[in-house]
Amino acid sequence: MTDKLEQLVEIAQAMVAPGKGILAIDESSGTIKKRFDGVGVECTEANRLDYRSMMLTTEGLGQFISGAILFDETIRQKMPDGTPLVKLMEQAGILPGIKVDTGAKPLAGFEGEKVTEGLDGLRERLAEYAELGAKFAKWRAVITIGDDIPSRACIDANAHALARYAALCQEAGIVPIVEPEVLMDGDHDLDTSFDVTEATLKALFTQLYEQNVMLEGTVLKASMVISGSDADDRADVDEVAQATVDCLLNAVPAATAGIVFLSGGQGDVEATTHLDAMNKIGDLPWPLSFSYGRALQQACLKTWAADPKGNRAEAQQVLLHRARMNGMAALGEWDQDDERG
Ligand code: 13P
Repeated sequence: MTDKLEQLVEIAQAMVAPGKGILAIDESSGTIKKRFDGVGVECTEANRLDYRSMMLTTEGLGQFISGAILFDETIRQKMPDGTPLVKLMEQAGILPGIKVDTGAKPLAGFEGEKVTEGLDGLRERLAEYAELGAKFAKWRAVITIGDDIPSRACIDANAHALARYAALCQEAGIVPIVEPEVLMDGDHDLDTSFDVTEATLKALFTQLYEQNVMLEGTVLKASMVISGSDADDRADVDEVAQATVDCLLNAVPAATAGIVFLSGGQGDVEATTHLDAMNKIGDLPWPLSFSYGRALQQACLKTWAADPKGNRAEAQQVLLHRARMNGMAALGEWDQDDERG
């Protein structure tokens, strides 16, 4: 293996090191505005820096968080004293990652479906991000379940783009997180979620193979196999855990460096419970961990927003607690009682 490939494998393994997961704070400008609006904070560049740097400077966070996914603005930001945020992350032992897709756009000819854009000029952008300190990247595709969707065309177009992105990342010495999110929105049942997730993952790994992507230097960010959020009779924790593990075993090659989950609208503790239940099943070929956005930040954001200056330390403790709970869940060692302490 060349030095470059070895380095990719090393980074990928560090991202899913035992008991550690990834903090997703790569909300696009529109999404972070929505989150700030929800807690009554003005969405200015200064406030975004204040909030995100508060999280990243949490003492001890690196014990449970291997890396954080940043947005383009954040990877360039400096603290008021001139220290780049990325430097603070390096000191805290948290790998900087970067969201590089430019969003999911309507897929022409397929009503209600989306394809993720951002391949044009990606080689040059990745080179710049590598200069800025990025060790890994993220690209999110969105698959929607509904009447007669997803279509084969949507699954294949997204898988193709994900693989092209992943190949460009590895060429740049950056580990790709490939994220084909099957949305929880809708009233579909667990079996439908299973079938769509399986088809999506099989298409993705076919494309990754065809486009020469090295799986040992790739991390999959998956959605769990779960009932739709509006389904009548939603599957319980053990059913979700077993269906997700079965689906992944069917579709994800053992060579893949690791799998991290998105939270996708699940509650904080719900996302932890599901991850823990999967790891309690055990005997899996890859580490199963977390890359939560909302399920890590929700409570922290609320605490911080109530008094951004006064509650800084308290908000950091709230984040650290959630990170620690998920770190335990990544080992299958979490218990509901741990939530109290
Ligand atoms: P959620 O955990 O809030 O779904 O966000 C994770 C993410 O990065 C989606 O791309």
